Amino acid sequence: MFDVKKIRKDFPLLDGTKTVDGKPLVYLDNGATTLKPRQVIDAEVKYYENIGANIHRGDYELAYNADVAYSEARRKVAKFIGADDKEIVFTSGTTMSLNMVAYGYSKKLNKGDVILIDVTEHASNVLPWFNIAKEKGVEIRYIPLNENGEVTLENLKKVLTEDVKLVSITQVSNVLGYVNDIKELARLAHEVGAVFVCDGAQSTPHMKVDVKDLDVDFFVFSGHKLCAPTGIGVLYGKYDLLENMDSMLLGGGMNNTFNILGEFSYLPTPTKFEAGTPNIAGAIGLGAAIDYLESIGMDNIEAYEKELKQYALERLKECPNVTVYNSSSTTGIIDFNIEGVPAQDAGSHFNHYGVCVRTGEHCAKLLHNYLHVDSTVRCSLYFYNTKEDIDALIDAAKEGGDFLDAFFN
Ligand SMILES: Cc1ncc(COP(=O)(O)O)c(C=O)c1O
Repeated sequence: MFDVKKIRKDFPLLDGTKTVDGKPLVYLDNGATTLKPRQVIDAEVKYYENIGANIHRGDYELAYNADVAYSEARRKVAKFIGADDKEIVFTSGTTMSLNMVAYGYSKKLNKGDVILIDVTEHASNVLPWFNIAKEKGVEIRYIPLNENGEVTLENLKKVLTEDVKLVSITQVSNVLGYVNDIKELARLAHEVGAVFVCDGAQSTPHMKVDVKDLDVDFFVFSGHKLCAPTGIGVLYGKYDLLENMDSMLLGGGMNNTFNILGEFSYLPTPTKFEAGTPNIAGAIGLGAAIDYLESIGMDNIEAYEKELKQYALERLKECPNVTVYNSSSTTGIIDFNIEGVPAQDAGSHFNHYGVCVRTGEHCAKLLHNYLHVDSTVRCSLYFYNTKEDIDALIDAAKEGGDFLDAFFN
């Protein structure tokens, strides 16, 4: 049984004592990062209190215990997204994972090749490709969006030619919240022999993901968006692709041999990509976050967030001064503006009511050209939010009239 009141008790920041500008905290910025349950905080602390040693180095008991805990975390991640353990590389987050793929593929792409993206993508899924384009003379081509701002199969087909070598698309847009049909998009990309990269930063926290079923070549996400610590993330890749890709990071822990002539060889995947001391506590915390999410159930999380989103959309209709840009998307992201109020000022206004929302371009600067607005307010829900949280957002939005007066006076 999904019991949000019980769930909220697990989150220290939701214990009812925390305030923002003197008002009870209403946290609606989960697209940026999520709050952490006690179970995750405890798992990290337990590593520091009881293990503390580095991995892949020592021959003493604590070092062995660190290896076991780190490997166990990798196993949990692999099972969570339907991969094999050896296909899971721990990184610092989505941004690092995408840069690692871009670095690896910068060596495989040639002048005249095409990379396909679309204008809803986050900066992390745009700028690494821009860099390759500049260095290698590769063309960046955009999949046109439909009138809602969605990536469709028909539109992919319009730009998918034989010279497309790589397609990189988000599963869920961090601004509009549409869920892309990744399985079919990847199938089409594969028909022309392109490699398919999926940005799962905004999907993995909210729905069941099975990378084998999706048949994507690479899949990336960040721990901190699914209740895990910051500074830990995942790069999944099909084993053969990872084995045939160079590592962006070189150093201790990932090499098999090196000699005075400057020759070196890699350890096998995934170790070859994890140079240096990794975020061991973060990986263990990610394992604990996955246990936590699975104890609630990803299907329950998705269903509950859909229900909350519908409630929020219905209530927002009471605010004639609010324009919602993505009312047809089903995930827990609501992107809107209050008439005549710059988004950043609206953010400060919500803060005054204890409500934390994100404002600005949300790192998707290409999209705002498409929407013809400079910036928007983003409310992003998670499974610990309640209808009362949404009521607080609506109450604050309804006060927008007074705020508008204050703004223009
Ligand atoms: C869709 C998407 N991709 C990539 C990122 C980058 O994630 P991180 O900052 O954790 O690397 C984000 C973060 O908001 C995102 O929403």
